[in-house]
Amino acid sequence: MKTISDIEDLRRIAARRVPRMFYDFVDSGSWTEQTYQLNQTSFKEILLRQRVGRSIDGRSLKSKMLGVDVSMPVAIAPIGLAGMVHADGEILAAKAAVAAGVRYTLSTLSIASLEDIQRATDAPFWFQLYVMRDKQFLLSLIDRAKAAGCDALILTLDLSVLGNRFKDAKNGLSTPPKLTISSLSNMLTKPKWCMGMLRTHRRNLGNIIGHAKGVGDVHSLSGWIGQQLNPALSWKDIEWIKARWGGKLVVKGLLDAEDAQTAVLAGADAIIVSNHGGRQLDGAPASVAVLPEIVDKVGRATEVWIDGGIRSGQDVLKAIALGARGALIGRAHLWGLGAYGEEGVKLALELIRKELDLTMAFCGHTDINSVDRSVLMERTIPRTDYCVA
Ligand SMILES: Cc1cc2nc3c(=O)[nH]c(=O)nc-3n(C[C@H](O)[C@H](O)[C@H](O)COP(=O)(O)O)c2cc1C
Repeated sequence: MKTISDIEDLRRIAARRVPRMFYDFVDSGSWTEQTYQLNQTSFKEILLRQRVGRSIDGRSLKSKMLGVDVSMPVAIAPIGLAGMVHADGEILAAKAAVAAGVRYTLSTLSIASLEDIQRATDAPFWFQLYVMRDKQFLLSLIDRAKAAGCDALILTLDLSVLGNRFKDAKNGLSTPPKLTISSLSNMLTKPKWCMGMLRTHRRNLGNIIGHAKGVGDVHSLSGWIGQQLNPALSWKDIEWIKARWGGKLVVKGLLDAEDAQTAVLAGADAIIVSNHGGRQLDGAPASVAVLPEIVDKVGRATEVWIDGGIRSGQDVLKAIALGARGALIGRAHLWGLGAYGEEGVKLALELIRKELDLTMAFCGHTDINSVDRSVLMERTIPRTDYCVA
C-alpha cells in the first residue's frame, strides 16, 4: 500500500480503481454542484485557535452517540449502492466501523441486505429508512431492521423528490445501469473491481429484491423505485413510524431551525443537519453554515449531528466545537472503500482519528467532550441568523 497522508490520497486512488460510472456517482452533487462544494469550503473558512502552555497529556476522544459508547464522535453515513464502489462494500465498511469502535449506517438502497450486515458483523448498527409509498414493505423493513439488531432508525426526509445529478444521467447510471460500450470498456480497465464483482453474488439492492411486492429482479426494480418516492411524506408519518419502531429515532436532512424544532416535537432522539452531501437542493447552504443556529434552537432538547463535507479530523473538531454531538462521513469512507476495500475504510477512520486528536491537542484540550466554540477564531464562526429572519 502506498503512503497515504489524507483522505484526498484515498480519493485519488479510488478514482483510478472504481469504474467511472460509480466513481462519478460518489464524487458529484446535483445541478451546478454549488452546495456540494460549499460543504467543504465552509469548513475551511472556520479557523482554529491555537493554545499553548497547557498540559495536553492523556487525551481522549471517547464519546457517546445516542447513549452508546463510541471511540470518537464519528459514524458512517448511509450510502445507497456502496456495494458498487467495491464488491460487498457495505459489509466491508461495516466491519471496518466495528473494528474502529464507531457506528455504521446501512442505507435502504444498499446492495448488501440488513441480514448480510448482521451476519457479517454480529454487532449493532443503524438503519436508514426511506419512507416509500408501499406501506406493507415499509413495515416489513422496520421489522427486519429490528430483527437484525439495529438500535437506531435514521429517517431521511430530504429525498421525497430526486435532485438532478447530471453526471449520473450522462453515465447511464440508472437501475439497472445502462451499459454502453464506453462504460463497459472503462470497467475492463479496473480488473480488481471486476474480479470482486464476479466473485460476489451481491449486485442488486439487497433490501428490496425478493422483499418488495412485484420486485423479483433488477428489471422490475427500476419502475418500482420510480413509483416509490413519496412526495406526500410529512411530519405525521414520523409519529407512526416512531410508534411502530419503538426505539431510537434519528431524523436526517435538516437545514432549518424551525424544521429542527418540529423534528424534536415529533419525537426525534437526534437530528442530522445535512443537505445529502449536496446531492439534493443545489443552492442550499453548507451544513456547517446552519449548524450553529440549529444547535442554538434545539441543542438542549436533542442530539444534533452533522454531515456534509467532512474530509478530516479538523472538520470533525470544528463541528463538535459548534455544538454537534456527532459527525457522519459519506465520501471520506467511500474513497477508502474504493481504494482498498475494508482496509481503506479503516485507514480513512484512522486518519480522521489522528487528525482529530492532534488538532484537539493544538487547541489545548484533552477531552473531546469539553471542546466548545472557544477553540475557534470567533470572527470565522458562521453567523447564527441564517435560517430565521
Ligand atoms: C454516493 C452517495 C449515496 C448516498 N446515498 C444515501 C442514501 O441512500 N440515504 C441517505 O440518507 N443518504 C445518502 N447519501 C447522503 C449521505 O448519507 C450523507 O448525507 C452525505 O454523503 C454527507 O456528505 P459527505 O459525502 O460530504 O460526507 C448518499 C451520499 C452519497 C455520496
